[in-house]
Amino acid sequence: MRRRKFKGMLKYFDIIGDIAIIDIKEEYKSLNRRIVEEILSTNKHVKVVLEKASPISGRYRIFKVKWLGGEKRFITIYREHGCIFKVDFRKVFFTPRLSGERLRIAEKVKTGEVIINMFSGIGTYSIIIAKKSNPKIIYSIDLNPAAYELMKENIRINRVENIVIPILGDAKEIVNERLQSIADRVLMPLPALALKYLPYALKALRNGVGIIHVYDFVKVEKGEKPESKMKKLYLGRLETLNSKSKILLVKKVGEVGPRKYRMALDIKVEG
Ligand SMILES: C[S@@+](CC[C@H](N)C(=O)[O-])C[C@H]1O[C@@H](n2cnc3c(N)ncnc32)[C@H](O)[C@@H]1O
Repeated sequence: MRRRKFKGMLKYFDIIGDIAIIDIKEEYKSLNRRIVEEILSTNKHVKVVLEKASPISGRYRIFKVKWLGGEKRFITIYREHGCIFKVDFRKVFFTPRLSGERLRIAEKVKTGEVIINMFSGIGTYSIIIAKKSNPKIIYSIDLNPAAYELMKENIRINRVENIVIPILGDAKEIVNERLQSIADRVLMPLPALALKYLPYALKALRNGVGIIHVYDFVKVEKGEKPESKMKKLYLGRLETLNSKSKILLVKKVGEVGPRKYRMALDIKVEG
């Protein structure tokens, strides 16, 4: 079975650190063992093969994983843009597919900025920004205790303790209680909550002015443009929130289903 051939048998295939995560198409499930052996022998740096055994779900946005072969573990070390991340696939969300986005945002950050990352996961965006740019401080929030613990470890490993402040909790409550009117930039890398939590991102901006980075899913009809739909959705919401805002950028950052896209939107809030 050649590499290209086994790839055609998979619905999903990612290599993260030394772990391959796969989802085998129903009709090839019986070839499970051969596929795993092929992955291990053709990718010498892969030591573990896991199965993505459910869709992403729940507040922590995780999918179930099943061990299929190689060393029996679920934890790996992943490197991105010169940073090191420890990931535990049983407990936290992680995707390497937003790597380009993490760098894009990091390159926008100006010296001395105060940043809030409302949905940090294991700290990827926050740590890459801290390493690549020169912000004053990044408040890095996540609700999942396991993601928070890994984020703390990743902050230590990457030696950004003076810049990235890990916070465990619901971003809405944390902003209300202690992060109002302090940020130059707010990150919202959680499509499921972006629209709902937009009022809290606005509250977090210093004097109600700054940049918000939103990610959301948009499903379009034939002939409809996802960029226009995303823009309209958020400009409408911002208007109801009495916010004077401009869209700086809107673009697709992935296709997650038939005519369904993950979109990135940069908003400049002017008051
Ligand atoms: C899609 S993941 C973000 C991943 C991360 N930005 C990355 O690139 O690896 C969303 C994260 O938001 C967290 N989360 C969900 N609801 C939350 C809330 N209300 N407040 C803070 N974090 C929340 C989840 O636990 C999850 O880790």
